[in-house]
Amino acid sequence: MAAREGMALVDRDEAGVDRAFRADVLAGLRQAQKAVPARWFYDDAGSQLFEDITRLEEYYPTRAETEILEARSRAFAMAIGPGRAVVEFGSGSSVKTPLLLSAIKPAAYVPLDISGGFLREAAARLAHQFPGLPVHPVEADFMREVALPASVSALPKLGFFPGSTIGNMVPRTAVDLLRSMRLTLQADVGVQPMLLIGMDLVKNPRVLIAAYDDAKGVTAAFNLNLVHRINRELASTIPADALRHVARWEDDLARVEMHLEAVRDIAFEVSGQHFAMQAGETIHTENSHKFTRRSGNLLLAAAGWTPRRRWLDSARRFSLILAEATAPRNAP
Ligand code: AVJ
Repeated sequence: MAAREGMALVDRDEAGVDRAFRADVLAGLRQAQKAVPARWFYDDAGSQLFEDITRLEEYYPTRAETEILEARSRAFAMAIGPGRAVVEFGSGSSVKTPLLLSAIKPAAYVPLDISGGFLREAAARLAHQFPGLPVHPVEADFMREVALPASVSALPKLGFFPGSTIGNMVPRTAVDLLRSMRLTLQADVGVQPMLLIGMDLVKNPRVLIAAYDDAKGVTAAFNLNLVHRINRELASTIPADALRHVARWEDDLARVEMHLEAVRDIAFEVSGQHFAMQAGETIHTENSHKFTRRSGNLLLAAAGWTPRRRWLDSARRFSLILAEATAPRNAP
């Protein structure tokens, strides 16, 4: 998922501080609405807490998406066909990737991840599980166009972006990413790339809130882990006991927001800079956009993807969409 400690793509200063992390946190805390990008959740503890979240009763997305992957393998085989290189954006830590790879007859598997260690682990596991399948891990930040290995350049591609991770991005960032993905996946052949992408659906806000504010407090711990990480890595003094986890549904924007709300007035330091929060003020830590059939289609279309097929789980909570790159044309 996101940057992990000790990996090649992380730029550290003399003291070993991740420069991008510090810059994001300092800039985010200076804003009128304090905010820290959600990608910083995923240090080792945060990645483990997210794994715990996926097993919670209230957190349905992982189970719903896995159900679709299990139930629709024949439909995937029909709609995607054999011989594509599967390019996974954020390499598979989960059971989802093997389900897709066994459903279709892929020519290669190319996991992309910013975290080299995590990436090599996942690649080794998949290579072992699928003997004979060429596996070419690429350490890269997939928010930008990525040069794929020459060995797969002639193959038609299928991008795989499960988990509704696209929902973490505001629309303009999501469109930038989906467009970069299309450029990354473009092959030297006349076959358009495809993309299989998970999008969580708009539903009763009570169900959504419960998924992001579970009874056991695992999501609260996940949210607060960000504060512990900032305190540990950025020489900070944020009083974690004065912040409480809040999940709210923003209907106009169709998203669940996670915040950390100050329960009293506080003042603290981060990397030598001073900050204060009044009781009730929040740090915005995550957006999780939810989609309708039309809003998902529109987002894809805005980035040059034509939706071809769409599958839901039996409870109709989550969608997997198969899109094809829109051929360049003179449109009406
Ligand atoms: C990993 C981005 C899909 O937004 O549902 C889970 C992260 N945050 N609970 C999501 C998350 C709080 C998750 N994604």
